[in-house]
Amino acid sequence: MRKENPIGVFDSGSGGISVLHSFRRMMPQEDFFYFGDHINMPYGEKSPDEIRALTINACDAMADLGIKALVIACNSASTAALDRLLARYQFPVLGIEPAVAKAAALPGKGLLLVMATTATLASLRFKTLASPFEDRVTPLPCPGLVELIEAEDKSGQDAYLSHLFSSVPKEDVAALVLGCTHYPLIKDKIAQAFQKTVPIIDGYERAAETLLSRLKNARLLNEPGQFGKVMINSSGGPETKARLERFLVDQLSLIQTNNPGD
Ligand code: DGL
Repeated sequence: MRKENPIGVFDSGSGGISVLHSFRRMMPQEDFFYFGDHINMPYGEKSPDEIRALTINACDAMADLGIKALVIACNSASTAALDRLLARYQFPVLGIEPAVAKAAALPGKGLLLVMATTATLASLRFKTLASPFEDRVTPLPCPGLVELIEAEDKSGQDAYLSHLFSSVPKEDVAALVLGCTHYPLIKDKIAQAFQKTVPIIDGYERAAETLLSRLKNARLLNEPGQFGKVMINSSGGPETKARLERFLVDQLSLIQTNNPGD
């Protein structure tokens, strides 16, 4: 494992771009290699066994390309496969999970609304994260929202959110947890539905701090001063790769798209 290698960032599709943004802000000197498994998306409506197998398959391919750390930028994949991935690779592996504890630590005792995929909300890991706050945690499954985000279907997203939130007692909500990495890509719309009065929590900054300190301890950080590049790829081919580039431009307003070996 060499410190010159990129940090791998994996998601079922384009959602992990929102995570990449936070990690890149924290570690601007690092190169990142992002892979979206668009051809097999959505993961969030699949069984844990299917999600685990797909995740391991994609992450093995990333590991073969040579990465020095791996961020599972997908709650559905982390809740299903993180234990297996931690035992599988020599390099640091970190998963993104619903930031329930961070939301619970905010002032206020109202509901903690957790938007996530069906698979994440059904997982044992989510139940463990939610159990200390079980009187406050309100799971809100969002099947179909990931597809509307990937399709960049703005009017479809508006209609979906308006229907989704119509049954939510908004005045009782203390915080909204985005438990799927796709949702921050439409954070403005979600915030708007709550008149921007409810804190929206994702937990990526804390995850980025954790990876920063692990890489530092392992002496795997690049030298400060340089500006790392972002390489992206997708199992879905040129159309989904172009979509990733659009999301990346949106999120980072700066992009350099090369693949390892290019
Ligand atoms: N971005 C993934 C997550 O954080 C879910 C997308 C999907 O369902 O494939 O859970």
